[in-house]
Amino acid sequence: MGKDVIIACDFASAAQTFAFLDKFTDEKPFVKIGMELFYAEGPSIVREIKRRGHKIFLDLKLHDIPNTVKKSMAVLSKLDVDICNLHAGGTIPMMEAALEGLTRPDGTRPLLIAVTQLTSTDQQHMEDDLWIHAPIADVVMHYAENAKKAGLDGVVCSPLEAGKVHELCGSDFLTVTPGVRFADGERGDQKRVMTPAQAKEIGSDYIVVGRPITAAEDPVAAYRRCVKEFC
Ligand code: C5P
Repeated sequence: MGKDVIIACDFASAAQTFAFLDKFTDEKPFVKIGMELFYAEGPSIVREIKRRGHKIFLDLKLHDIPNTVKKSMAVLSKLDVDICNLHAGGTIPMMEAALEGLTRPDGTRPLLIAVTQLTSTDQQHMEDDLWIHAPIADVVMHYAENAKKAGLDGVVCSPLEAGKVHELCGSDFLTVTPGVRFADGERGDQKRVMTPAQAKEIGSDYIVVGRPITAAEDPVAAYRRCVKEFC
């Protein structure tokens, strides 16, 4: 897959999601479905968005014992999503089990990427709560290398980390980066942001963009602007 813009469909219901997607008549954007929408609507929302012809990143961030993750990934694989994810903190055996579960009998599978440390975790909480005493930037890179060792396809990371991840894990190792804002747009609660053009420059493979598109007056125009700057 080449570079693409993934729209974070952070809506609370299927009705809101389809009212949004119906605005796109000429293109079928890649969409991200997160926990809120999935827990509200269940697998049927995934099947319906797939049926409409969109690619899907199912952002459920699995983290459990290897056997449970393996079986759950086998279920997600049957939903025919394009990308799914898990927490690298679940260890290499958990990531390997996930890949096994995800692989269909014919050998195909969705892409699997790892969350390293959540961007909501800072150095202080990592040390005080998790008792991890290395610098957070090193922890992020170590987890990315673990994901690579386990055979995963890439990581979710800040666009600011994408260059370093590629340096350590290779240029084929995917970097999927949220925290993208237009130069003239609102930042909202995102602190460390980049424009789509900067994310392209630094080598992100996919950008995940939510509110700059979903809350725009003209979401289709905002999406096209992202594609034009990034792809
Ligand atoms: O609206 P906005 O563009 O900030 O949305 C970004 C999306 O990416 C949201 O779905 C958010 O949960 C997700 N995300 C993030 N930072 C991470 C991981 C995921 O913003 N580190």
